[in-house]
Amino acid sequence: MPCHHHNLPYPFALAFISCLDQQARPMELIGMHKPLLLLIIMAGLASGSPPPEPVACTGRGNTDCTVTNTYGSFPDRTICRAANATFPTTEAELVAAVASAAASKRKVKVATKHSHSFPKLACPGGRSGTIISTERLNRTVSVDAAKGLMTVESGMVLRDLIKAAAAAGLALPHSPYWYGITIGGLLATGAHGSGLWGKGSAVHEYVVGMRIVTPAPASEGWAVVRELGVDHPDLDAVKVSLGVLGVVSQVTLALQPMFKRSVTFEKRDDTDFAAQSAVWGGLHEFGDMAWLPRQGKVIYRKDDRIPVSTPGNGLNDYIGFRANPTLALITARATEEHLEKDGDDIARCLSARVPGALFELQAYGFTNDGSFFTGYPVVGFQNRIQASGTCIGSREDGLLSSCTWDPRIRSPFFYQSGFSVALSKTPAFIADMQKLRDLNPRAFCGLDAKLGILLRYVKASSAYLGKSEDSLDFDVTYYRSYTEGETRAHSDVIDELEQLAFGKYGAVPHWGKNRNFAFTGAITKYPKAGEFLKVKDRYDPDGIFSSEWSDQVLGIKGSPNVVGKGCAIEGLCVCSDDSHCAPEKGYFCRPGLVYQKSRVCSTRPAATTDLRDEL
Ligand SMILES: *[C@@H]1O[C@H](CO)[C@@H](O)[C@H](O)[C@H]1NC(C)=O
Ligand SMILES: *[C@@H]1O[C@H](CO)[C@@H](O)[C@H](O)[C@H]1NC(C)=O
Repeated sequence: MPCHHHNLPYPFALAFISCLDQQARPMELIGMHKPLLLLIIMAGLASGSPPPEPVACTGRGNTDCTVTNTYGSFPDRTICRAANATFPTTEAELVAAVASAAASKRKVKVATKHSHSFPKLACPGGRSGTIISTERLNRTVSVDAAKGLMTVESGMVLRDLIKAAAAAGLALPHSPYWYGITIGGLLATGAHGSGLWGKGSAVHEYVVGMRIVTPAPASEGWAVVRELGVDHPDLDAVKVSLGVLGVVSQVTLALQPMFKRSVTFEKRDDTDFAAQSAVWGGLHEFGDMAWLPRQGKVIYRKDDRIPVSTPGNGLNDYIGFRANPTLALITARATEEHLEKDGDDIARCLSARVPGALFELQAYGFTNDGSFFTGYPVVGFQNRIQASGTCIGSREDGLLSSCTWDPRIRSPFFYQSGFSVALSKTPAFIADMQKLRDLNPRAFCGLDAKLGILLRYVKASSAYLGKSEDSLDFDVTYYRSYTEGETRAHSDVIDELEQLAFGKYGAVPHWGKNRNFAFTGAITKYPKAGEFLKVKDRYDPDGIFSSEWSDQVLGIKGSPNVVGKGCAIEGLCVCSDDSHCAPEKGYFCRPGLVYQKSRVCSTRPAATTDLRDEL
């Protein structure tokens, strides 16, 4: 979590709605039960169980291991195994671990403390690989407050990095909104916040040095540390590397003197949303947007840098990233499953309104002083505003409460697609999405239920696998079944809007999000991919840091598509045959309604497709 984010499920809301008479209007009920709800929301949520370890070994000495992501499931639902795992605590131990793998040409992959990427980036493939965890490489190496430079080990969690920088009076100008990810992991997948000013919102734009451990010939001891300064040409490969070049040991960031921000959320009609998308990023340094398609609203985030002398000690403790009672999570999920299976559009759309209303009511978790919200703007220091994620900092409480997506309980389970469209094309893309929405607005309630589609600005980068143009990133979160091949209500509109982005508007997928099909041909959209592969061949000629998955994604060998029965239901392929959907459940492979080249699993009768020109 990915990576990051504004639009995650809100279990209380869902748990609450499960008790409702479905005829009742949610707004009235919220009004009626407001004190009760606030009580539930504020009760004991500061602590909870931290997320489980992504690397688990059953054999002695960290052998017979599995690695997963923080959600407990990769897009293809396979289990990833490895022969053993190491947890180096120093760079010397890291070099030894890489040398050992290189000497025997063993596959090796890096896992992080929480492993937030949805795709299988942390999986070495097969059963005989090794996992190197950066969990214990989490120290600050040096801080030079006068020069604004900070060097940290790659396994440092963003939360701790922000804290350490702030202690020296420094601020990382941009970051993802979720701080439970490591600096090494977030760089590898190109993670970003939102903004076009200056160097923009991608964290890798603030990297001025890196140390990476790569394989080496026997004569050099099988592994070397490569130190890359700001002018080193390879830095453009190593900054965003998908983890295929080696293990990043240290990262040096160019920080700024601590500053303050002023944040206001403003909900408006979506009638001029398409046009606004082209200008909003120019108006506000940290501006973003969240689109609620069914409601026809956009929540504009007005967010700007202001002088540190401005009064205010605001805090962002985003509601979706707080710990939740296990009971609420289980109830929320049960309700979602019930609505998916047996609910109708009316029931689904009714419950979809609740999370947004509750988040708005509580200013999304922003407070003016760390405790209370008294009104916009919220003014606060960058380190208290830029990111949040209190559910990871929780004390162990025997799983009474946890992060919303904790895989140890049957909690809300979701897909997250993230893709970037060049800024010049977003008005047309959004207009097409609105066209699709207008054909059947109720089909979009599932997106409203997850707080809408989050839009964040990202600037063009010199990083070979960074954005090649100024772009707008769209984060789409939606229901996922625990059962493989289970159909979802209105999955066709999600499939169509994803294919619209990738097919018609040349979108590129976020490396750490998405389902398999999104990566098909993605690498061909990167003009500097060839440069990246040259560095890869030099750094790791035997490809020990490459896996089947990375080879597929980088276009080296094979395809990320897994074609077979029901593959399109799981997002493993785009359907080309009814068997790729679920014909036995009434889902057939049909052309899309707005983007006719798309192929989606739909319950629409075949005849409807012939009418599409009239629509
Ligand atoms: C991991 O397993 C491989 C192959 O079985 C072995 O050569 C290597 O020494 C092991 N590494 C660790 C750190 O246990
Ligand atoms: C490093 O990780 C350990 C174990 O999770 C933790 O206790 C410690 O606070 C972390 N160090 C820093 C500097 O964040």
